[in-house]
Amino acid sequence: MPVLVAPSILSADFSRLGEEVEAADRAGADWIHIDVMDGHYVPNITIGPPVVSAIRRHSRTFFDVHLMVDRPEPHLAAFVEAGANQVAIHPDACVDFHRAAASIRDLGAQVSGALNPEEPLSVYDGRWDEIDTLLLMSVHPGKGGQEFIESVLDKIRDAAALKRKHGYRFRIEVDGGVKPYNSARIRAAGAEVLVAGSAIFQSASYREAVAAIRGS
Ligand code: DX5
Ligand code: ZN
Repeated sequence: MPVLVAPSILSADFSRLGEEVEAADRAGADWIHIDVMDGHYVPNITIGPPVVSAIRRHSRTFFDVHLMVDRPEPHLAAFVEAGANQVAIHPDACVDFHRAAASIRDLGAQVSGALNPEEPLSVYDGRWDEIDTLLLMSVHPGKGGQEFIESVLDKIRDAAALKRKHGYRFRIEVDGGVKPYNSARIRAAGAEVLVAGSAIFQSASYREAVAAIRGS
């Protein structure tokens, strides 16, 4: 299975977000990754549901909305109504992960479970069947343009081994510091979806960057 590439609009030109999403689609994006930061779970503040709904009008691509938000529960419906196809939540930010995941599913979206670089896979023990995607952070969440944390490669391999062993169906998505020069190693470790922000939106050719990250 070829990997999917999910450009993160965090590194796009926010004054032209609609055009930037269209350009990412033309460049071959499989998903659009949308980073929501609340100034509490992480220091920065980015965007909310009205922006998701505004860019939804520019694209039919799968919207992967990553909530770096403390206590996200009251906001889940607004993001799905705005056009999120999948919502990623961090268990340490949730009041009750199981209930938050069930709400996302009841709202009709897919569930992604995020994991920070220092957190072990065992955070999801007993929860593997509740997620469609495992979002392995390969930088500390909060901003784009950081270096890929190499130790996450082992976690990707371990997650892939767990899938094989138990027949779990979640996809392995890797987020942070993914570049054309390191994507082959990340893919070889077992990543199935690669998020890339600065490597795509700060490149001269989005199409070439997407292709290089995909390895095609
Ligand atoms: C980090 C975000 C990432 C970020 C990745 O908090 O979750 O999605 O946009 O950006 P790059 O690819 O520049 O590391
Ligand atoms: Zn993200």
